[in-house]
Amino acid sequence: MSVEVADVSFFYNKGTSLEKKALDKVSFSIAKGEFILITGEVGSGKSTLVRHLNGLLKPHSGSVRINGIDSTSKKLRSKIGLLMQYPQRQLFGKTVFEDVSFGPSNFGLKDEELNERVSASLTLAGLSHDIADLSPFSLSGGQMRLVALAGVLSMRPEYLILDEPTSGLDPENRASLFSTLSHLKGRRISVIVVSHQIYDFLPFADKILLLKNGCVDFIGSRDEYLQSIASPIPEITSFMKELQKCGFEVTSNIYSVDDAFNEIIRALGSNGVNENE
Ligand SMILES: Nc1ncnc2c1ncn2[C@@H]1O[C@H](COP(=O)(O)OP(=O)(O)O)[C@@H](O)[C@H]1O
Ligand SMILES: [Mg+2]
Repeated sequence: MSVEVADVSFFYNKGTSLEKKALDKVSFSIAKGEFILITGEVGSGKSTLVRHLNGLLKPHSGSVRINGIDSTSKKLRSKIGLLMQYPQRQLFGKTVFEDVSFGPSNFGLKDEELNERVSASLTLAGLSHDIADLSPFSLSGGQMRLVALAGVLSMRPEYLILDEPTSGLDPENRASLFSTLSHLKGRRISVIVVSHQIYDFLPFADKILLLKNGCVDFIGSRDEYLQSIASPIPEITSFMKELQKCGFEVTSNIYSVDDAFNEIIRALGSNGVNENE
């Protein structure tokens, strides 16, 4: 099952003097469980594109199909979670609990089961259960974003869309977000992240889509992206390349400090084994 975007074009204010083409024959697909990073300059059409994925917008031509179903179908509502660019606008509850429980309680979850779902969602979003009785509007901007994320996760979506999720997050909340993404990666959930901060998300991305003026400028794997588009390459990747040049048997397909650490430990370990042989 997958997302299939085929030849999608979309105009704002169509048919008026203010008509503006925001997407121009965009095509790509996302396989189940894949992590895709959608990037591009401000105004390139990223938010417009993801609003098509959860059916908020309907293409003027082309189609968006999710698990073979048109993306505007109500059947898909609970399967696609969208954390908006300004997620504070997604909050409405008097308490954090009310906010995070809203979706699952509408789907019939009650009592202990509902409490457990809220607890698990707060934990997955990196938040303490202690804030459940607070007003979401009394929290910091970063925490509000994570509460909105917990609300989206509480529906256990198959597809999770995050529009510029790191904007306005302090280092601690950023770390929570990245830890949430690490937990989600590898589960049967497809994550679609929109960000112009490419290097933040490279460690997670299976695929990268670069939009330019509403058109697909590049789509491919992370390695293809780094070879053909990215400049400069991330510092940690060039560090690994330098180690290779010095004769260390490490891979240079590394995009995060954690992965570099593990790869160096692995290489040192396997050297040790060779010496003992
Ligand atoms: N509600 C709107 N009405 C008219 N034009 C819009 C609206 N939202 C976005 N646009 C225009 O559509 C283009 C794509 O916008 P958007 O999808 O928000 O880009 P991005 O998320 O990449 O910054 C931009 O030129 C933007 O000005
Ligand atoms: Mg945007």
